[in-house]
Parts: sequence; C-alpha cells; structure tokens
Amino acid sequence: MARDEPARAVCRGGRALAGSAARGAGLREALGCGRHDILELGVGGGHNLSHRTADFQATALDLSENMLAHSRRLNPGVEHLVGDMRDVRLGRTFAAVVIDDAISHMRSEADLRAAFATAAAHLEPGGVFITSTEFLRDTFRGPRAEVCTRAKGDTQLTYVEYTHDPDPADTTLETVFAHFITE
Ligand SMILES: C[S@@+](CC[C@H](N)C(=O)[O-])C[C@H]1O[C@@H](n2cnc3c(N)ncnc32)[C@H](O)[C@@H]1O
Repeated sequence: MARDEPARAVCRGGRALAGSAARGAGLREALGCGRHDILELGVGGGHNLSHRTADFQATALDLSENMLAHSRRLNPGVEHLVGDMRDVRLGRTFAAVVIDDAISHMRSEADLRAAFATAAAHLEPGGVFITSTEFLRDTFRGPRAEVCTRAKGDTQLTYVEYTHDPDPADTTLETVFAHFITE
C-alpha cells in the first residue's frame, strides 16, 4: 500500500489499509463518508495533517506560532490557531479530534489527562478521538539514538535525538535533542 494512498479508498471499497495509510483510513472508517470536520491538536509543521486535508475539513492548533507558519504553507485553507492542548476550549465540536506524535510532549500524567479532556470537550456526541505515541513504557527498549542530516542550499542541519528512561519506576521517558547547523 503506497504511503499516501487516499483514505477515501476505504470509503469506496471497504478495504482494510496497512501502515501509515491506516491512520487516515481509520478515521474514514470510523466517520463514514463525507467531508467531516476534524481538529488536530499539536499539528506541528502539519506533515501528518497534509495527508488528511483532501478528505476532511481540518482545523489545526499548536502552541508554537513558528510551527503553525510551516503548517500554513503546507496546508493552505486550513484554519490554524495558537493554543495549548491542555486547556484550550474553542467553543465548538468536531467529528474527530486527532493528537498524533504531539501527545509525546505531555510530560506528566496530569498533562496527559488534561489533553484527553480537551479532546473530549471538542468531540461531537459519538465523535472519534485518535492519538498515537512513538513509545510505550511497556515496550520501550532504550536508550535509542537517531541521527539525521538534511541540506537545503548551503545550509546543512544534523540532528541527534536520544531517548532514554531515566527512571523506569515512573511513566516518563526523556528525549534529548542536539541540532548542528552549518551555513
Ligand atoms: C513533533 S511535533 C508534531 C509534528 C506533526 N505531527 C507533523 O506531522 O508535522 C509536536 C508539536 O506539538 C506541539 N506541542 C507541544 N506541546 C503542546 C501543547 N501543550 N499544546 C499544543 N501543541 C503542543 C509542539 O509545538 C510541536 O509543534
């Protein structure tokens, strides 16, 4: 299954999709056909959202105006709002609320509960909440390191991402980022 295969394939064919396509497909399957209103909390640069805008009417929220600027470029036509997923209340509801990897930014169980309460507050009756995290405590085997280099013109960025579990007795992992930029 191609990564970007539209989720509407499920609507037409009722097929199960695998991998990253399953995320959009899961939403389509849960909501049924139609251009439903969805809200993404912690949209970041809007990469994941860009795979959903063809099929859904999206509203996007993030703590960072700078990240929203990236998402606005990638997702024109989407309403972008600054806010904190732990306490924002937009005063309207959606067929679905999505929190992708941004859920990993909740640094305590209290923050996690607050984000879930925000999702619940923005759901229509029978609405769908989808969230996903990169790591789960039960399955995390660390430490893990990831290194990646990207270049654009004369500028090169290398980032190192190091994730470890400083205290296996609690429910928190720590990720340390180092960015090296050469111009
Ligand atoms: C890893 S990025 C999301 C990337 C995104 N999934 C994509 O496809 O581009 C995580 C985002 O969560 C946002 N974030 C972290 N804490 C937040 C909070 N409390 N409320 C709203 N956004 C938050 C950060 O500003 C960041 O842009």
